[in-house]
Amino acid sequence: MTAVDQKRVALLPPDVADAERLFALIDESRETLRAWLPWVDATRNAEDSRQFLAGVAEGARSGSACASWLIARDGELAGCIDIHGISKPHRSGFLGYWLADRFVGGGLMSEAAALALDTGFGALELNRIAIVAGVANARSRAVAERLGFVREGVQRDGLHLHGRYHDACQYSMLAGDWRGRR
Ligand SMILES: CC(C)(COP(=O)(O)OP(=O)(O)OC[C@H]1O[C@@H](n2cnc3c(N)ncnc32)[C@H](O)[C@@H]1OP(=O)(O)O)[C@@H](O)C(=O)NCCC(=O)NCCS
Repeated sequence: MTAVDQKRVALLPPDVADAERLFALIDESRETLRAWLPWVDATRNAEDSRQFLAGVAEGARSGSACASWLIARDGELAGCIDIHGISKPHRSGFLGYWLADRFVGGGLMSEAAALALDTGFGALELNRIAIVAGVANARSRAVAERLGFVREGVQRDGLHLHGRYHDACQYSMLAGDWRGRR
C-alpha cells in the first residue's frame, strides 16, 4: 500500500457555502452511492445539499446526536463522514461515510475515518463507535476491517434499501482499543 500523506486529508466543518460542490460530488457518483445510502435519491439539487449542510451546522451548534465533516483531499471536496446516533449516556455512536467514485481506491477513507475516530474518542469522549455495513458492501467492510474494528455479528435484514432488505455486518471499536492502535 502507498502511504497516505496525512496533510493531504482534512476533515472540514460543514458549511452551506459548499452546497454546490457537495451536490456536484453526489450527483457524479449517484449510481454507486445510492446502492448503500438511502438519502441519495432524495438529493436532487444544490438546494437539497444546502438544507443538509444548514441542518448539520445548526445541529453542531445545538449539540445534536451527530457530528459531521466534509472530507477534503488537497483542498478538493471528496466525500463526507459522520458519527451519528450519538448516545451521551452510553458514550457510543455510529460511523458513516462515503466518497465520490473518483476518490475511491486510494486509502483516503481509511485516513479520514482515523481522523474522525481520533475526535470521537477524543473531544467527543465516546467509548464505543460502531460501523454497520451491508454484508455485500465489500469496500465499506474493508474500511472497518483495515482500521481494526471487531466484527460483532450480522444484523439480519439490518438495512432496507430500494425495496429490498440486506443483511449487515456490525463492527465496533472501543476507545481503549483505538488508543492502543494509534
Ligand atoms: C465505502 C467507501 C468509502 C470505501 O472507499 P475506499 O476508497 O475503498 O476506502 P479507502 O479510502 O480506505 O481505500 C482503500 C483502498 O485504497 C487502497 N490504498 C492505497 N493506499 C492506502 C493506504 N495508505 N491506506 C489504506 N488503503 C490504501 C487499498 O488497497 C484499497 O484499495 P483496494 O480495495 O482496491 O485494495 C467507498 O467505497 C464508498 O463511498 N462507497 C459508497 C458509499 C458506502 O457504501 N458507504 C458506506 C456505507 S456503510
